[in-house]
Amino acid sequence: MEHEHTDPVRAGRRRRVLITGAGGQLGRALQEAFADDHLVALSHEEWDVAYPPGDTVSQGDLDLVLHAAAWTDVDGAEADPQGAAAVNVGGTANVAGLGAPLVAFSTDYVFDGRKTTPYVESDAPNPLSAYGRTKLHGEAAAGPDAWVVRSSWLFGPTGHNFVRTMLALGSERGEVAVVDDQRGCPTYVGHLSDAVRRLVDSGAPPGTWHLAADGDCTWADFAEAIFEEAGLETRVRRITSAELARPAPRPAYAVLRSERPDALTLPHWREGLRACLAALSATAGDTT
Ligand SMILES: NC(=O)c1ccc[n+]([C@@H]2O[C@H](COP(=O)([O-])OP(=O)(O)OC[C@H]3O[C@@H](n4cnc5c(N)ncnc54)[C@H](OP(=O)(O)O)[C@@H]3O)[C@@H](O)[C@H]2O)c1
Repeated sequence: MEHEHTDPVRAGRRRRVLITGAGGQLGRALQEAFADDHLVALSHEEWDVAYPPGDTVSQGDLDLVLHAAAWTDVDGAEADPQGAAAVNVGGTANVAGLGAPLVAFSTDYVFDGRKTTPYVESDAPNPLSAYGRTKLHGEAAAGPDAWVVRSSWLFGPTGHNFVRTMLALGSERGEVAVVDDQRGCPTYVGHLSDAVRRLVDSGAPPGTWHLAADGDCTWADFAEAIFEEAGLETRVRRITSAELARPAPRPAYAVLRSERPDALTLPHWREGLRACLAALSATAGDTT
């Protein structure tokens, strides 16, 4: 399907950009990165993507859709895989059905983690969890004209994420147990959103793109860095995934890199962590 859109920049008007899941951590960061555009930012309440769009989304005059809405409860998806699929597969199909150029977001959890060198776009997915399976099927539902952006271990100043959880635990406890046998690329949503903007503005071809922070670490390494950067004395006790016994299996190794000649690079995860802590202190008192 060809996108027959007049280039809005050449036509002298701002792009009309729809963001789904606008209340989520990535949805919020995308609103900042695309602030120069005419944004239609819809929260879960404003459009439940599991249902076809209503009158709130006027079809036909969107220049770009950034689909950040998703079922992201990885363990909850094991108990309700159909509920997760309704959002991550059916929802993505509804969004693709708008017919506008689309960025759909996917995850390192589409891989099984058996590799010991970074996963690139051409590596075969083999999700271990219900969540990973719904995200993989969601990639297909986005269609061949979409940019499918796979990223990893997202964190930002709002919402539920590892950095905010560790800061809360670290302020209460002298020691926190954190898994040390899963390796990935903690990616700051602000850096990811800036890279997505560069991707679409560069006229990059559609298809799968790996966009994750530079560097890699385990969750335990990341927790130690969070406490260090935040000036907390909290110790990290390194444990195994088996000890934590979460319902959904996670890949042991989920480092994402791009094999594309025009690959986009993101800053190191530690730089992302510092940017996140700076954004958190700038909005101290805001509990969203
Ligand atoms: N978080 C990660 O570590 C990670 C890693 C790799 C890739 N990703 C992908 O990145 C994207 C953004 O994730 P995120 O970290 O920003 O997640 P998030 O903070 O949980 O945001 C997801 C948003 O989607 C909304 N949502 C859920 N069900 C919906 C529905 N049926 N209709 C409309 N909105 C709905 C949620 O609203 P409610 O809160 O009201 O449910 C929330 O605002 C997702 O595609 C995710 O799979 C995330």
